[in-house]
Amino acid sequence: MRIGMLTGGGDCPGLNAVIRAVTKSLIRQCHAEVVGIVDGFAGLCGEVTRSRVLSWDDVSGILMQGGTILGTSNKANPLSAPYATAQTLAHVKRLGLDGLVVIGGDGSMAIAHGLSERGVPIVGVPKTIDNDITGCERSFGFDTAVATVTDALERIQTTGQSHSRVMIVETMGRYAGWIALEAGLAGAADIILLPEIDYDLNTVAQVCLAREQRERYTVICIGEGAKPRGGALTVERRIEDSPDPIRLGGVAHALRDQLQPRLRSEVRATVLGHVQRGGRPTPFDRVLATQFGNQAAQLVMTGQFGRMVTLQQGRLGSIQLAQAAQQHRHVPLDHPLVQTARQIGVSLGESA
Ligand code: F6P
Repeated sequence: MRIGMLTGGGDCPGLNAVIRAVTKSLIRQCHAEVVGIVDGFAGLCGEVTRSRVLSWDDVSGILMQGGTILGTSNKANPLSAPYATAQTLAHVKRLGLDGLVVIGGDGSMAIAHGLSERGVPIVGVPKTIDNDITGCERSFGFDTAVATVTDALERIQTTGQSHSRVMIVETMGRYAGWIALEAGLAGAADIILLPEIDYDLNTVAQVCLAREQRERYTVICIGEGAKPRGGALTVERRIEDSPDPIRLGGVAHALRDQLQPRLRSEVRATVLGHVQRGGRPTPFDRVLATQFGNQAAQLVMTGQFGRMVTLQQGRLGSIQLAQAAQQHRHVPLDHPLVQTARQIGVSLGESA
């Protein structure tokens, strides 16, 4: 058996743990040859393929490394044009692949689904720090991102307190507020603003004013996809050749400019950016990624292609790629953590 493997889309802590588990499981259990495709779909849909065989030794010692030893790309899309699709299908055939493991986010799963409909035997492994893939209640990389943001919030607390400032910290997460919500709670933010709840500027200003009187400083944790009621998303840039061209970013600065005229305290904004995606995975993410990689290998060995590994109600499983590619998983407004935040007096920017 010869199985290809690639990492697609933005990187995320834990990718190497998956690569290691898939490779070791397939080599150990069915003596498969594992072929790593370099730079995600870019290594499969160009004029020439870029790949290398992964041995047991190649994947030993990478469990705790951040990034991906295979490289990744969030631009290449084999479905963007008929010639790119044909080229990709020809490359899969020429490489003699009996299957392909695609480790990626929803964009990669949509591509994987398209290729699988065209006959490529694919198993998907969900990855994203955003934790927003349908069918997967916890994706690896998320725990590490939450730990990084929590650490940043703790640091922001002390400097905010010293200067009696309003400190706004912007997290990644795209259109889902999972990172902002969990890290906001863990980092003791006073206000947490999520993409799922359009914030009322008056409410946010009122909370800051009340805290100016008592605590003298305020920490706001805002997801990059949050927006004011009646307002628009803050788009940082467009990457036209990407399957998902919109890059969010900068809402912390927009909020600072909206708030500053209403407050006496100085308002400062920090955008955490890619620091949330880098570095070593937490022990939780190493274990989860190892389980996902092993589960993907089991699906390959039992011929269950066209499916993506999932985690639902704490149990590993799989769903059709078609289901996974459909939509984002948002924070439900009645989620226990949302209720906890409200009940302990953390403002979610909702009007009274
Ligand atoms: O999906 C992961 C993610 O880090 C998002 O949270 C963020 O909006 C986006 O990727 C950033 O993408 P890029 O690395 O292309 O700027």
